[in-house]
Amino acid sequence: MRKNLRNLHDADQYDAYASQAMGPWDELVVQRAVELKPELAGDRCFVDVGTGTGVIPELVAGYGEYDGFSLIGFEYFDDMVERGNQRIQAGVYKDRIKILKGDAHALPLPDASVDVLVCRATLHHLEKPVVALKDMARVLKPGGIAIIHDPRRDAPAEILKAFNEMRAKVGYSPTTLDEKFTLDEVRALVREADLAAVSEINVADGMAALGFELLIRKPA
Ligand SMILES: C[S@@+](CC[C@H](N)C(=O)[O-])C[C@H]1O[C@@H](n2cnc3c(N)ncnc32)[C@H](O)[C@@H]1O
Repeated sequence: MRKNLRNLHDADQYDAYASQAMGPWDELVVQRAVELKPELAGDRCFVDVGTGTGVIPELVAGYGEYDGFSLIGFEYFDDMVERGNQRIQAGVYKDRIKILKGDAHALPLPDASVDVLVCRATLHHLEKPVVALKDMARVLKPGGIAIIHDPRRDAPAEILKAFNEMRAKVGYSPTTLDEKFTLDEVRALVREADLAAVSEINVADGMAALGFELLIRKPA
């Protein structure tokens, strides 16, 4: 039986890890958010699901392509929400980013309200990933995109080793694999969520081979 998983360490340790050690890994998803951003009408909204302490929205805010967007990070566990808010309030984007309590299975957002949704390293933390995928698709505007990155259980051993070395440099334990999905399992989740026709799953080379990219494009 799956359940919503906390991070291995507490919110302060997670924040130190996420903000100090993960630069190259962060850039993979942030660059995709910049490249794939659609030009849609209405209030512009970027959402990060399972935001941890808000590292991703803060990086995205630094890109001119996201000027004029409201940026929201949703997080399930209260200590992460609190730590994320402290960090955002101490930073230069405090007026643009909100870190809010929110469950990936039932995002507190109206239907068709989000231009770009990112969910990084969170799918495997969720009790019901199929329910969450459906909810991510629900909140996308027509023409909007969800960019879901997650480490995979069938990652190449040498990439996993390099990733764990990066974690060890800031005193973070090696990543665990049991709860993560293989590529075949992700394909099955997407089919079960009835999203196969609007999704693609990619695996890139280098560090990106640690995980997969699942794109969900809501038809315009
Ligand atoms: C490995 S962290 C990734 C954090 C952030 N996305 C990043 O890449 O730095 C996964 C996060 O998902 C959060 N989480 C777990 N269950 C959740 C749920 N049901 N809804 C929202 N967030 C959840 C955890 O608390 C944790 O902060």
